[in-house]
Amino acid sequence: MIDIHCHILPGIDDGAQTIEDSLALAKAAVENGITHAVCTPHIHFGRYDNTADTIALACENLRRALNEHNINLVIGAAAEVRFDVEIISAIERNDIPFLGNWHGKKVLLLEFPHGAIPMGSAKLTRWLLDHGVCPMIAHPERNKSLLERPGQLAPLLEQGCLLQVTAASLTGNFGPKSEKMALSLVADGLVTVVASDSHHTKRRPPLLRQAYDIVCKRQGYATAQALMISNPWGITKSHFPISG
Ligand SMILES: [Fe+2]
Repeated sequence: MIDIHCHILPGIDDGAQTIEDSLALAKAAVENGITHAVCTPHIHFGRYDNTADTIALACENLRRALNEHNINLVIGAAAEVRFDVEIISAIERNDIPFLGNWHGKKVLLLEFPHGAIPMGSAKLTRWLLDHGVCPMIAHPERNKSLLERPGQLAPLLEQGCLLQVTAASLTGNFGPKSEKMALSLVADGLVTVVASDSHHTKRRPPLLRQAYDIVCKRQGYATAQALMISNPWGITKSHFPISG
């Protein structure tokens, strides 16, 4: 499976803190059935001030360590970008690494604050789409405001934003409300990718295989394949030129 959202790079956000943490998380990913992972540390202006360059360097260091330890996980680098008007200038400076491409647009993994869909969200996503960037909204099923009023997603979906659901929501690890919303978004065909959003081998492990089995059972093999293999591969294959 192809995991396009994980916090496996060491010491640059709230995921893996040391190279040992990263290697343990990478091993857990491989054991979970993940062959390729795009590392997506937070870019959260004023909190995690990562840039395309710092993320690429961290990814290169981890790639070397994975080789040294014979861990068979192929990695690439992008980011999970927190909603902020600063995104516009960061994109203009080429400081935002993208997940890849989808239907002719670059894909940006976009995270809203956990309790809200801020005023002006649709204006920022409109600006992005008009500039060749397709926002993929990270884990809408874990956003408190969307859980209360899921109708707020409609204008973003109408614009053409994509949705990424987190595997651990489908398994119930984020509680029954997130589980229900995740299952319903998948059943309604609104989800493009399911990803792990793994942070830690114990507290936030990769649960992609478990989510695959749930989607397979409820929606069928073709949907599970699309959400965890063919769609994420279609978006991110440019990160993996050797095996692609
Ligand atoms: Fe994340």
